[in-house]
Order: sequence, then C-alpha cells, then structure tokens
Amino acid sequence: MSKAIILIGFMGAGKTTVGRELAKKLGVSLTDTDWAIEKEAGISINEIFATKGEEEFRKLETELLERLRLENYNGVIATGGGMPLREQNRKLLKKIGRVYYLKTDEEKIFARISENKDRPLINTENPRERVHKLFVDRADIYEEAGDVIIDGGENPKAVAEAILADYKKWEKQK
Ligand code: S3P
Repeated sequence: MSKAIILIGFMGAGKTTVGRELAKKLGVSLTDTDWAIEKEAGISINEIFATKGEEEFRKLETELLERLRLENYNGVIATGGGMPLREQNRKLLKKIGRVYYLKTDEEKIFARISENKDRPLINTENPRERVHKLFVDRADIYEEAGDVIIDGGENPKAVAEAILADYKKWEKQK
C-alpha cells in the first residue's frame, strides 16, 4: 500500500469494525485514533473531555495526524467522529491517504450509540436531540472531507469490500 486507507464518519458509523476488517484482509496495521490518543494520554476519552476539555482533545487529534503524516503511515486509520472538524485535519487526512466517508442514517446511528456511555458528546440530557444537531452541523463537513462516500449501512464485511474495490482501482490509476 502506498497510502493509508482512512475511515471517517459519525460516531457509530462502524469505522473501527470496518477498519479491523480491512486491516485483516490487507495484512496491515490498524490505527484507531481514539485508542492511540487514550494510550498516549494514559486516560480515557471521557476523562480527557472532563478534565482537559474538548479543545485539548482536538489538539491531540491534530498532533496525532501530523505524526502519521511524518512517518508516511500506510495502514488503515479509523478516526474519531470529530476528526474532520478542523480544516487543518481535513487537509492532513487527504495527504495521508484515501479518505472514505462511511455515511449512515441518523436513526441507525442513534440506535447503535445510545446504549454506550463512552461518548462524552452525547452524555447529555437529551442525547437524541444532540445527535440530530451534530448530524445537521457535520453533514457538509464529512462530504467535504471524504474522497469517496461509502454506504455504511451495509454489514461491515460488505463495506470493507466496497472500500477495497475502490482503493485497488485508485492505486492502479495513480
Ligand atoms: C467524537 C467521536 C468519538 C470520540 C470522541 C468525539 C465526535 O469517536 O473521538 O468522543 O466528536 O464525534 P467515535 O466516532 O469512534 O465514536
């Protein structure tokens, strides 16, 4: 692989699951940006948000991307849902690899993430409303950040296949 395969999309879109599938198929490593940040900080994402705030977390995300760019990382990257929010990150993502936006509908997303308490942004009084607002606010950002839009509603194996088919074609054309 000359460049990384990068998965972006809303929380619960299946980025990590699909990323695992892709890494296995290709025999390359998977970097999950949330896990990498937690490992380095020695605390959970929830704790980072609670003690240092979202801005600090966003800074850590950018720093991680800068490192991946410097080392010419060419495995699979599953990003946290807010990674494309910063313009700087959107540029870095496109430099590091081919960016796949796993697009999924709001209802499906909510059903997948509502049981989980690990996501500080939706640990609010009305998570459903919060998800809707984030969905509206981020729709255009994800479209802009992605090179390719993939239907994330399929099962993870099918999503991984669709990504691989595109990636192989793209690598040949380059
Ligand atoms: C976030 C998504 C989370 C995590 C953090 C913030 C977001 O990652 O990075 O809670 O802003 O959408 P997942 O997309 O893996 O849930």
